[in-house]
Amino acid sequence: MNKTLFMNFSPNKNGNTNFIGEKLLKNIDHETLQMVDYKISQYGQVFEDDQISEVFKKIKDVDTLVIGAPVYWYTVGGLLKTFIDRLYMLDEAQILKEKKLYLFAQGSAPSKDTENSITYLATRLCYLMEMKLKGVVVDSSDGGKILNTMTVE
Ligand SMILES: Cc1cc2nc3c(=O)[nH]c(=O)nc-3n(C[C@H](O)[C@H](O)[C@H](O)COP(=O)(O)O)c2cc1C
Repeated sequence: MNKTLFMNFSPNKNGNTNFIGEKLLKNIDHETLQMVDYKISQYGQVFEDDQISEVFKKIKDVDTLVIGAPVYWYTVGGLLKTFIDRLYMLDEAQILKEKKLYLFAQGSAPSKDTENSITYLATRLCYLMEMKLKGVVVDSSDGGKILNTMTVE
């Protein structure tokens, strides 16, 4: 198995996050998940139409995850933050173990503090979920730094 899943955590299916992610993976066979299409409840909410299990079904079959998110309010946008919150104490999340993660975020003008904070988040996420962090880049919306420095294998 050497499959790659790109998870676009922007509400814009054709926005900057999606554009950068698809460009990053142009030579790599992959599936794209538009996370805005899935109903992911907030941690602690109990809704019958929650779809996090459907997302895990997609993740189960791959060994590489590429997560892309826009910067909102100096950190990752809410779609990604909600997904990460949900991983806490969730049995299904065990399948993330050993998976490789590339995480990028882009915003109109992300500050150094934003970059440090998102890098810290990705590092701790991988440590706690026992994932392998292969790259984390925070960039401006043109994605130049992401595309120049992140090489997805
Ligand atoms: C609610 C909101 C908050 C934002 N906050 C920031 C921010 O703190 N820093 C930043 O650099 N850009 C910020 N932006 C700009 C977006 O990150 C930027 O437009 C991004 O390219 C959108 O990505 P998308 O096209 O994939 O949706 C914000 C945008 C929105 C809608």
